[in-house]
Amino acid sequence: MLTTLRGKDFIATQDWAVEGIESLLDVSHDLKRRFALGEPTRLLPDKTLFMIFFDKSTRTRNAFEAGMTQLGGHAHDLTPDVMQISHGESAKDTGIILSRYGHGIAIRHDTEPGAGDTYIREVACHADVPVINLQSDVDHPTQTLADLMTIREKVGTNLKGLKIAVSWAYAPSYAKPMSVPQGLVSLMTRFGMDVTLAHPPEYTLMEPILRDAENNARLSGGSFQVIHDMDSAFEGADVVYPKSWGIEQLFGQPDQALAISGRYKDWIADARRMALAGPNAIYMHCLPADRGYEVTDDVIDGPQSVVYDEAENRLHTAKAIMALTMGGKGSGRA
Ligand code: CP
Repeated sequence: MLTTLRGKDFIATQDWAVEGIESLLDVSHDLKRRFALGEPTRLLPDKTLFMIFFDKSTRTRNAFEAGMTQLGGHAHDLTPDVMQISHGESAKDTGIILSRYGHGIAIRHDTEPGAGDTYIREVACHADVPVINLQSDVDHPTQTLADLMTIREKVGTNLKGLKIAVSWAYAPSYAKPMSVPQGLVSLMTRFGMDVTLAHPPEYTLMEPILRDAENNARLSGGSFQVIHDMDSAFEGADVVYPKSWGIEQLFGQPDQALAISGRYKDWIADARRMALAGPNAIYMHCLPADRGYEVTDDVIDGPQSVVYDEAENRLHTAKAIMALTMGGKGSGRA
């Protein structure tokens, strides 16, 4: 286990060595056990995390705020409209000032392709405290870390040869960010999994992410393929993760986006498709899910669904990320 993660940003899992990710999981499991026992875990007493949400959140916001309280510190729950960001204050100035006041900065900026990752990295470039990505246009690393933890708990620790289907699914509610499927294909390929990405042709992921996934699979001994057929992706899968995301070029054009997504209403996780998967397959979703569109109630509420345990793991992994990057032992900013 690495003990030198203090000060390290957590912006994309691809920025972290597998050994660092394993250290986060190790601590997540320990914190989960101690939470279940009711043991105090005041690892960050008197420390402050500034959370800036450019977009809405239930799980991420509350996992980090509750997690920070449980670690003995305090999380400020901020939105751009209550900050000078809304008057155009730069990422640089925001990063420097918040660094002077506290011990970590966490940002969600996920609905504008090309903007969020750039903004978060600009803050991190000027901050001298760790910066945590709470979901960008590119990655949702605090989600996929919890997903990895959940897969290990449910399916086993050796992921080599395990088949995961990351599939697009129809949702009429809004253009969901691309960062969850992107984060999944880039992280799971690093652990030797056989990753199948399925989506209608219009829903391609960002090119650098696809290249990372291919390279990761080659290095880990796993595999990565992209197909346009949800049934084929489900066939024999050990893990199915169907969810909606938007078209990169149409995030600002909801009418056009809906006109295209409406052609693919049959991309739904239902009992017929679950029967195509392996007999012990688990159903995952980061939530919120569009029930009746992305997934039927009998699947998301059924015995193969692990969505609530997956959501719970957001808390334990959030605490591990904060404890190791904002506290702990080490040589300072990595
Ligand atoms: N999965 C997830 O990030 O949920 P929230 O949008 O509610 O934070």
